[in-house]
Amino acid sequence: MKRIVLFASGSGSNVENIANYFKDNPLVTITSVFTNKRDAKVIDRCNRLNISALYFNKESFSKSDCLLSILKGMDPDLIILAGFLLKIPKNFVTAFPNKIVNIHPALLPKYGGKGMYGMNVHNAVKNNNETETGITIHYVNENYDEGAIIHQAKTTVTKEDSPENIAEKVHALEYEYFPKVIDQILSN
Ligand code: GRF
Repeated sequence: MKRIVLFASGSGSNVENIANYFKDNPLVTITSVFTNKRDAKVIDRCNRLNISALYFNKESFSKSDCLLSILKGMDPDLIILAGFLLKIPKNFVTAFPNKIVNIHPALLPKYGGKGMYGMNVHNAVKNNNETETGITIHYVNENYDEGAIIHQAKTTVTKEDSPENIAEKVHALEYEYFPKVIDQILSN
């Protein structure tokens, strides 16, 4: 049995999509979903999907070993960041080498780094008149959005596309590829 732990800060539509993808797979289980936002929509989704959701505050994450100990106890095969906005502390990266995977809603190294999340990314893509954007699934190291790239997928951006359209296109790619890539990593 492979164990996945997910981290999310917001809506959690990727969490739900990943949960649905693995729900009939007896070899993969979602142990828990961690969130740093007490009112994140992902908590409602977890309640509905019958998945354990755990809220933690920033201090227990970055200033103590509290959360790390809980996570180690869960012995996850993979830790998935699905719309998680805090920087992963160094002691987490050291404790789980090549086991923390993030999805970024752009074609890294473009539009990565601090402040580049959510609509900020899609607004920047629009403002720079890009003709394509996409997703990057990558391992997490100590720097924002700089770990080794596992998979990228592209979509076109037309002049008519608004940042909201771009976000929709990118989300569609996330739903299509993220669970499959997680599945592949788990079976390697
Ligand atoms: C996704 O676009 C993901 O790439 C980014 O945050 C968004 C999360 O969306 N890092 P959701 O919470 O899964 O709906």
